[in-house]
Amino acid sequence: MSWTVNGVIARAKGAPVELVQVVVPDPGAHDVVVNVQACGVCHTDLHYREGGINDAFPFLLGHEAAGVVSTVGSAVTHVAVGDFVILNWRAVCGECRACKRAEPWYCFATHNASQKMTLADGTELSPALGIGAFAEKTLVHEGQCTKVDPTVDPAVAGLLGCGVMAGLGAAMNTGAVRRGETVAVIGCGGVGSAAVAGAKLAGASTIVALDLDDRKLAWAKGLGATHVVNTSGLSHDEVVGAIREATNGFGADVVIDAVGRPETYKQAFYGRDLAGRVVLVGVPTPDMVLDLPLLEVFGRGGSLKSSWYGDCLPERDFPYLIDLFRQGRLPLETFVSERIAIGDVEAAFAKMQSGDVLRSVVVF
Ligand SMILES: NC(=O)c1ccc[n+]([C@@H]2O[C@H](COP(=O)([O-])OP(=O)(O)OC[C@H]3O[C@@H](n4cnc5c(N)ncnc54)[C@H](O)[C@@H]3O)[C@@H](O)[C@H]2O)c1
Ligand SMILES: [Zn+2]
Ligand SMILES: [Zn+2]
Repeated sequence: MSWTVNGVIARAKGAPVELVQVVVPDPGAHDVVVNVQACGVCHTDLHYREGGINDAFPFLLGHEAAGVVSTVGSAVTHVAVGDFVILNWRAVCGECRACKRAEPWYCFATHNASQKMTLADGTELSPALGIGAFAEKTLVHEGQCTKVDPTVDPAVAGLLGCGVMAGLGAAMNTGAVRRGETVAVIGCGGVGSAAVAGAKLAGASTIVALDLDDRKLAWAKGLGATHVVNTSGLSHDEVVGAIREATNGFGADVVIDAVGRPETYKQAFYGRDLAGRVVLVGVPTPDMVLDLPLLEVFGRGGSLKSSWYGDCLPERDFPYLIDLFRQGRLPLETFVSERIAIGDVEAAFAKMQSGDVLRSVVVF
């Protein structure tokens, strides 16, 4: 059996996305077909479209999703038909070097579906982050499905599948923000705003939000920022100065770069206190090069970390964060700026770039 459904692909570098017919094959032994109910538009989808991740076009975009399991492969035990799940791109293998040394959030061999979804002519698609959920149905490995409370709105739950988890985890897991610490977040889109919320949950005393757009800063304030700085037109020294001014002149204990450009990384590097932590969660493009005095890297101490998916473990973190949401302690609904149809992804990219939204979410 196979299914033909509507899906959004990026056919070639920089070309507008297209709504096409996608063929979802019968699941392999450990694969699962999911009826996608909602899928957020993440900046990483745009990176794929622009060729910034790799050249394996055509991509089936979309990777921040929730839905209901509709068909399972013969050996699937982890989920059952009818389960409400958030899709994840970290189905840990349990056997790689990272898993064996008890650091599964770095797993180097995460599971994906055993078969490829294709175009009607048989062309194989590369699903974004091994998911591909701007489609009515998608095929994933059973481990990519995390069962959560089915009463939660799929548009809200799905956000944990990528950007919001990446931001929360950049603060709570990678940055390991402790109560009373000072935090600065550069770039307050879906990911950075979630980092603000994560810093608040972790008990940060000061949270400085920096962005080029006042609307993003207003959202960040609503999520817990104690100081906001519009960095548009500011020099490097002015940005660093603003972070220091908000943190008793010292710089922040943790600075999270949720943009991922050499200039924002330098702001993070110099905006942090001695022995502080820099967390890079924004994804740079292949052409970007960082140039820093090595003596400063040494002399300022502390640590420079990258955060892949907020160092999350979906099976541990998604149900817990859904609990916090249900208790009113994590306002995930704030991130859903608009609900759109599957044909509106290209327009959503434009809104993301013009700063109109935290998240556009495709609902099915
Ligand atoms: N590491 C991960 O696991 C992971 C997961 C999801 C997304 N990401 C990446 O995180 C980044 C942010 O994603 P998003 O979905 O929040 O994007 P977004 O487009 O919603 O947000 C980016 C924000 O950065 C701001 N910005 C841009 N340039 C800036 C600058 N020079 N200084 C200050 N602010 C600036 C924009 O105004 C915008 O508010 C992207 O690079 C994305 O690919 C990483
Ligand atoms: Zn592993
Ligand atoms: Zn993403």
